[in-house]
Amino acid sequence: MLEKVALVTGAARGIGLATTRLFIEQGWRVAMVDRDGEALVEAADGLNQASPFLYDISIPEQVDEMVSSIVSAFGRIDAVVNNAGVADFGPIETTDFARWKEVMATNLDGTFLVSQACLSALKETRGALVNIASISGLRASTLRVAYGTSKAAVIHLTKQQAAELGEYGIRANCVCPGPVRTKLAMAVHSPEIIASYHDAIPLNRYGSEREIAEVITFLCSDRASYVTGQIIASDGGFESTGVGLPALRT
Ligand SMILES: NC(=O)c1ccc[n+]([C@@H]2O[C@H](COP(=O)([O-])OP(=O)(O)OC[C@H]3O[C@@H](n4cnc5c(N)ncnc54)[C@H](O)[C@@H]3O)[C@@H](O)[C@H]2O)c1
Repeated sequence: MLEKVALVTGAARGIGLATTRLFIEQGWRVAMVDRDGEALVEAADGLNQASPFLYDISIPEQVDEMVSSIVSAFGRIDAVVNNAGVADFGPIETTDFARWKEVMATNLDGTFLVSQACLSALKETRGALVNIASISGLRASTLRVAYGTSKAAVIHLTKQQAAELGEYGIRANCVCPGPVRTKLAMAVHSPEIIASYHDAIPLNRYGSEREIAEVITFLCSDRASYVTGQIIASDGGFESTGVGLPALRT
């Protein structure tokens, strides 16, 4: 059987790179997409089953060219992981329109554009879409007016995709990670935020990139062949709990 091919955006580091490595361990080939050329080349170095594709998914003209070159290089696409994302935390009053649009352009527009551009390839393989949202898309909190709203929209976009694309055998699911110590998170998580997350998470710790990648690759695999339209938090229990956890710990 031909090896399956995954397109992973934001693959140069963090959750995207961990997902790339896990796909390779599971016998897949990977098209690694990122707009950070230096980090991408370094990440792809030595990964024989993967190739780097330097593109910015927030630019529509680049997305079509990107998908064409991936299909030319690999001949097929079996799974698309819309993982590239940016975080910008700030109060509503000072989140100006440029900051708002910057977050939406990658997190929401990019996810829509990449999924759409991959449709004809996914129809051929009856493939899978996995969109990466966040616990910030499931629950509101301060400072996440743009980020949280973009991720809530990704959650609904996933349901739209599942509703419409099931007819072609294409599955669409969404993973909502809890906090993971990546460059993205560490740029916006102050020591106070880190302590608060520990307090609010039943497992009382951050997750690892690998723990998120396990859920992503499962949803892309045939083991999840009857799973579509689902929003799955990989968050140490954050979303399932209410207030008062620290006081209730024994
Ligand atoms: N780390 C966390 O705590 C956390 C929590 C919830 C959700 N997430 C989500 O997980 C995903 C991955 O995050 P991460 O923590 O690994 O981040 P990261 O910053 O370590 O990696 C993100 C990668 O995406 C790339 N990227 C960003 N915008 C791009 C664009 N327009 N085009 C192409 N590449 C682009 C970056 O260059 C970077 O390599 C994001 O969607 C993020 O919102 C992360």
